[in-house]
Amino acid sequence: MKKFAGAILLLSISMVVVTSCGNNSGTTTATNDSTTTHDSMQNTTKPGVTSADWGESDGKKVFSYTLTNKNNVQVKITNYGGTITSWTTPDRNGNKSSIVLGFDNLQGYLAHPPYFGALIGRYGNRIANGKFTLNGKTYTLATNNGKNALHGGLKGFDKVVWDATPSADNTASLTLNYLSKDGEEGYPGNLNATVKYTLTDADELEIEYTAKTDKATPVNLTNHSYFNLTGDVNNTILNETLQIDADRYTPVDTTLIPTGKLEPVAGTPFDFRQPHKIGERIDQVPGGYDHNFVLNGGGSVRRVATLTDSLSGRKLEVYSDQPGLQFYTGNFLDGTIKTSDGKPINKHAALCLETQHFPDSPNQPGFPSTILQPGTSYHTVTRYKVSVEK
Ligand code: BGC
Repeated sequence: MKKFAGAILLLSISMVVVTSCGNNSGTTTATNDSTTTHDSMQNTTKPGVTSADWGESDGKKVFSYTLTNKNNVQVKITNYGGTITSWTTPDRNGNKSSIVLGFDNLQGYLAHPPYFGALIGRYGNRIANGKFTLNGKTYTLATNNGKNALHGGLKGFDKVVWDATPSADNTASLTLNYLSKDGEEGYPGNLNATVKYTLTDADELEIEYTAKTDKATPVNLTNHSYFNLTGDVNNTILNETLQIDADRYTPVDTTLIPTGKLEPVAGTPFDFRQPHKIGERIDQVPGGYDHNFVLNGGGSVRRVATLTDSLSGRKLEVYSDQPGLQFYTGNFLDGTIKTSDGKPINKHAALCLETQHFPDSPNQPGFPSTILQPGTSYHTVTRYKVSVEK
């Protein structure tokens, strides 16, 4: 009882409603954010953003921000890696659970899980042999996936502390900023990246990415959330049903680098133009799905994929203006990483739907360009919308 009262006191101190808070000037004092107790407080949270102190990395303060909309849906994001750490939504019976993989403390992320919920940059997915040539100069990147560079290198945008500015009113948004220095992980140019997360009252999480550079550089930003719509990692995602609006995909070699071809999905296990259970044809895909789909349409934000789960009734719709979508079925998860409440995260415990440009574009003249020029702006929007079907 005493312990409980102490926890309440600590939480009262930590759950200060944020009006303005950069990553070096926290208004919060607590050092731990226990999800269980935190959530009980948050049942009474008003729409807007609250923050809790999560500790430090690279000498910078790390916070956990809770975005709450008027339906009391909550998304938690930390400025460590700009990571979505939980997204709590009701199932068809009103029972709430998080539909993304994540931890309730910074330590979980400092152990480097495979990009759970993180912002990915400067270049999402692989660049072959960690090399590309631009304006006659060959750049050598940090390699971290065999001989290839993956998701920005050894210390990509997922492992840095972003400056965070929560919305000051009762809208639920968080703006994150990171300056990636010229030469970081081998990439040219100072890249100033801003990512704005907004949880709308229509239960959409909008992610708006903008960036500017002072030298030509490849840029391909995305978010690496792992979804399990059942809200329980004990269920695999093989029974969830997926539709992807893509007539073609980019086949890959044994190191997951695209061959450069855009192959039709028709007649293959990659044909998700009509909804299919994920487990239905996965055995025909060696290793499981880990492929970039060439999305139909383009230029403007359109619905590109829909995931449904008959167990919980939850539905996730993905909207984006991007040309590609990496569909990854958590093939490399093997149970060694555990959730904060101790459940092993096994193969196919969750899946990723990463909106992006195609992998290895800097070395693939036939793919849409990912080169950002000085004096121009990188701008892209993706929205994940969650609803419940009765
Ligand atoms: C890649 C996978 C990789 C995973 C985690 C995905 O985006 O396509 O090959 O294993 O990220 O790193």
